[in-house]
Amino acid sequence: MTEELTFDSKNTIAYEANARVSIPTYDTLFSMVQSYFRAQWGEKEASLLVVGAGGGNELAAWGPSNPKWTFTGVDPSKEMLQMAEHKSIQLGLEKRVKLIQGTVDDLPSSDAKFDAASCILVLHFIEDIQQKLKLLKTIKGKLKPGAPFVLVSAYGDPGEAELQDRINVWKTFFFDVGYESSKLDDMGKGIMKISFIPEKQIEVLLEEAGFTNITRFYSTGLFAGWICHAE
Ligand SMILES: C[S@@+](CC[C@H](N)C(=O)[O-])C[C@H]1O[C@@H](n2cnc3c(N)ncnc32)[C@H](O)[C@@H]1O
Repeated sequence: MTEELTFDSKNTIAYEANARVSIPTYDTLFSMVQSYFRAQWGEKEASLLVVGAGGGNELAAWGPSNPKWTFTGVDPSKEMLQMAEHKSIQLGLEKRVKLIQGTVDDLPSSDAKFDAASCILVLHFIEDIQQKLKLLKTIKGKLKPGAPFVLVSAYGDPGEAELQDRINVWKTFFFDVGYESSKLDDMGKGIMKISFIPEKQIEVLLEEAGFTNITRFYSTGLFAGWICHAE
């Protein structure tokens, strides 16, 4: 990640404020994923791997209403994980939540495989395509056969006008909450520092990583979400 895109203490506080402006359907996204996971298991116990658990929004959205779910969250950012830990304690989830500072490579190899995984708003911070693929392959390797996986990422071809049009739409979300036009132009340039790749390429990476039944279920502004299953 570049320095501007790290999740240090300053950016961590800003993240909570900005996520719902940047993605006006942010909370709906978490409700949709919860519905999808619930449909797999009903009221049964389930173990979830949350990749990029920093901030704790997956835990807060899914923990209280699903008392039989347990969560293992990984995230390299100490500051973001502190926020996740704080939320987990506030919501009384700590007995069902394990947080690991690091990446999926830092998960103990002895751990049982998971019933499901999510990787929400992480992939576009990984610049190298092979590293993106490695992350998806590692997640797949941590899942039981058939387990559902949800990926949400920025997408688009940086060379295409279509992405520029969506960036202009994205800027209007910030304009509407009072950001000055001059700041929006800088933000439009800044957002290009994240790693956009075309939707088709994301689907190919999921296939190569060993996921099947890949379906796009979500799209808002710069971001889209796919549901699929580990082979
Ligand atoms: C935009 S936040 C998303 C957090 C949370 N998933 C959400 O939607 O609110 C991106 C998070 O991904 C984390 N991250 C970056 N690279 C990662 C990696 N290789 N593995 C796991 N998490 C990573 C960052 O530290 C940050 O906490």
